[in-house]
Amino acid sequence: MAASNILIILIFNFFTVYALKKSINVLLPEDGRLNFTQLATKYGHPAIEYEVITEDGYILKLFHIPGTKDRPVLLVHGTFESADTWIIRGNLSQAVALANSGYDLWFGNLRGNKYSRNHVSLNPDDDDAFWNFSLQEYGFYDLPAIIDIVLNKTGAEMLNAIGYSQGNTIFYVLCSTRPEYNSKINVLIALAPICYLQNVPPPLSTLIQLSPQLYKLAIDLDITEIGYDNSLLNAYIKFICTRAKIGYDICIQSLAFPITGYDSEELKPDFVPVLVGHFPTSVSTKDLYHLAQIGFRKTFAQFDYGSAGNIKKYNSTLPPVYNLNLVTTKIVLYVGLNDFLATVADVAILRLQLPNVVRYILSPRLKCNHIDHVNGEHVNDYVFPYIRDVLESY
Ligand SMILES: *[C@@H]1O[C@H](CO)[C@@H](O)[C@H](O)[C@H]1NC(C)=O
Ligand SMILES: *[C@@H]1O[C@H](CO)[C@@H](O)[C@H](O)[C@H]1NC(C)=O
Ligand SMILES: *[C@@H]1O[C@H](CO)[C@@H](O)[C@H](O)[C@H]1NC(C)=O
Ligand SMILES: *[C@@H]1O[C@H](CO)[C@@H](O)[C@H](O)[C@H]1NC(C)=O
Ligand SMILES: *[C@@H]1O[C@H](CO)[C@@H](O)[C@H](O)[C@H]1NC(C)=O
Repeated sequence: MAASNILIILIFNFFTVYALKKSINVLLPEDGRLNFTQLATKYGHPAIEYEVITEDGYILKLFHIPGTKDRPVLLVHGTFESADTWIIRGNLSQAVALANSGYDLWFGNLRGNKYSRNHVSLNPDDDDAFWNFSLQEYGFYDLPAIIDIVLNKTGAEMLNAIGYSQGNTIFYVLCSTRPEYNSKINVLIALAPICYLQNVPPPLSTLIQLSPQLYKLAIDLDITEIGYDNSLLNAYIKFICTRAKIGYDICIQSLAFPITGYDSEELKPDFVPVLVGHFPTSVSTKDLYHLAQIGFRKTFAQFDYGSAGNIKKYNSTLPPVYNLNLVTTKIVLYVGLNDFLATVADVAILRLQLPNVVRYILSPRLKCNHIDHVNGEHVNDYVFPYIRDVLESY
């Protein structure tokens, strides 16, 4: 391609992004535009920001909403998300409900998301090595760094944790690869507990089967990051999903619900412009492929580099399996019957392998899908009371 063509494409892209961003800023409601600290202040619980540096150099943002209770509570978000997830429902959010009840709240941001797209030496825009991570690194590096800071700042010996979706999976990575962390976690409340992914329905099951080809294509195209806030893709998502007439049908009914499970009563059109102000944010392509591998290999194991790569990395043709027997910390599983991602059947496999499940809660909301666990409009009716009861009981 001639250099002039490339220049024209670049200029065209620049103006598309600019035009889309301008229209989006007008379209998004205030809560779609505010960041975590601004939302926390707006809803009456100002937050303090901390920076955490992991052993391998990633710089993560950690938010703290101080409370009156002694044992800190750490909340960890899911895939394509940030700490915003816990607070974007405003006065109806779990963050506000927990803060109103006096809990000392800490909100993690995993490497790569909009608050943690930062490293001591690698540049996320230029260095592919920045994006060379998956749930293994979230669990092995990010969680221990975050947990140690929370314990250090509070002087507590243990914390309680709430992990949503992949934000629960990575606690199993941590506790099986660094078992000494079991004694720093009093109880983990696992919401929509993803681990095994072999019983998900189509279309996600189809994507999982196709994932080796999709991953290879992404790598060939040098796509190592997906969901970046300032990307063209993200601009289009915001632009289309906020259209009053067709946004809900396209983005929620046709794209989101087939993957998460259908529950239009808990996610109404009015919330979509707020949601897409915060979702998606960056993840690594490698993380998505690692999740897919867990699905098609039907094994909860480290990243599979292929025989030759595995021998180099692990001295074994197969990647090491995470030993769930080593996850001895107390676990509460909270499951939605209508969750297409963390299905009841896959959670059953997980439950059999975890040695210390102290409670298994099937959501009383029978239509509870994957999103409802944190972003359902009435999440404080069908999830929060169980969380409070667990936090008070253990
Ligand atoms: C949130 O936005 C405010 C105002 O722009 C800014 O000062 C603050 O640093 C932001 N916080 C984070 C965590 O991005
Ligand atoms: C949130 O709820 C509190 C207490 O009910 C109320 O005082 C406040 O005005 C509400 N905030 C917003 C922004 O709606
Ligand atoms: C990513 O990490 C793996 C193992 O840690 C290594 O083999 C591989 O070369 C790395 N890739 C890049 C692009 O840095
Ligand atoms: C926190 O870390 C600092 C610096 O390493 C140390 O001096 C302090 O004693 C620690 N505090 C607690 C409560 O562990
Ligand atoms: C690699 O694995 C083989 C066979 O399990 C073992 O004998 C050898 O010591 C291992 N090498 C390293 C470097 O760990």
